[in-house]
Amino acid sequence: MNRDSPRTPVAGHRGKTLIANWKLQGTGPHLDQWIQAVQGLEEIHSRPIQVILCPPAVWLERARGRLHEGALALGIQNVSAESAGPFTGEISAAMAYEAGARYALVGHSERRRLFGETDPVVARKAEQSARAGLTPIVCIGETAEERRAGETERVLARQLGALDRLSTEALNALWIAYEPVWSIGTGIPATADNLREVAAWIRSHVAASDATMADRLRLFYGGSVGAGNAAVLGALDGVDGLLVGGASVEADSMVALCRSMAGGMPKSGCGADSSLRG
Ligand code: PGA
Repeated sequence: MNRDSPRTPVAGHRGKTLIANWKLQGTGPHLDQWIQAVQGLEEIHSRPIQVILCPPAVWLERARGRLHEGALALGIQNVSAESAGPFTGEISAAMAYEAGARYALVGHSERRRLFGETDPVVARKAEQSARAGLTPIVCIGETAEERRAGETERVLARQLGALDRLSTEALNALWIAYEPVWSIGTGIPATADNLREVAAWIRSHVAASDATMADRLRLFYGGSVGAGNAAVLGALDGVDGLLVGGASVEADSMVALCRSMAGGMPKSGCGADSSLRG
């Protein structure tokens, strides 16, 4: 596997990560301005905070060309389940890596719901990502109806179960994002208690089959995160960071998010957390 930098933090170091998922938004000039505003922030240099920008894939190379050493990493919003061949419009994980991505969002609920991605397809995308040297960030979460019916754990268990057959390499690389569908883009974030409970459940579910992996697993939350709740949700034990959609697109809003997250964290000293920079 072609890897030019560590993609997981050193053992025992639990820094926090903000993942910016722009979805189908932005322009090239907007990207330039965003990167300039975010990567210069004192807050993300003096705290163990990592920022991963997932712009539309056509701008990965442009973004890479504007990154300074260290502060920001790049992710792709979606990769193909195939590695090469007659699959018009697809982008392989290896191509994403070549364009500068080191992370891949996999199985976002919008992909599952609007583009018909099933659990097995999500698993194949995670495998392809890991094989190409990307960290797969697999998104899982229940809908409002499933939640009302008390089926949250059953749904999460099914989505996690589809990952059981991943190679050891992919399992070791895997990050999980808990993204309840009822919370995405709705302005209704999970409460701290709800998130604490679900995060603990996910970790114990993983621990039932692999305790070491559960301990090492980086677990994220996404759904209506903004500067007003990032400090509380991001600071929870067992939550390694936040996946942000709407509030991550404008530079000002992202800067406020970074500051909010940093507010709840100890200073680490500039550069002390280079292991976190994917
Ligand atoms: P949101 O989206 O922050 O706009 O709710 C989160 C996501 O889709 O990952």
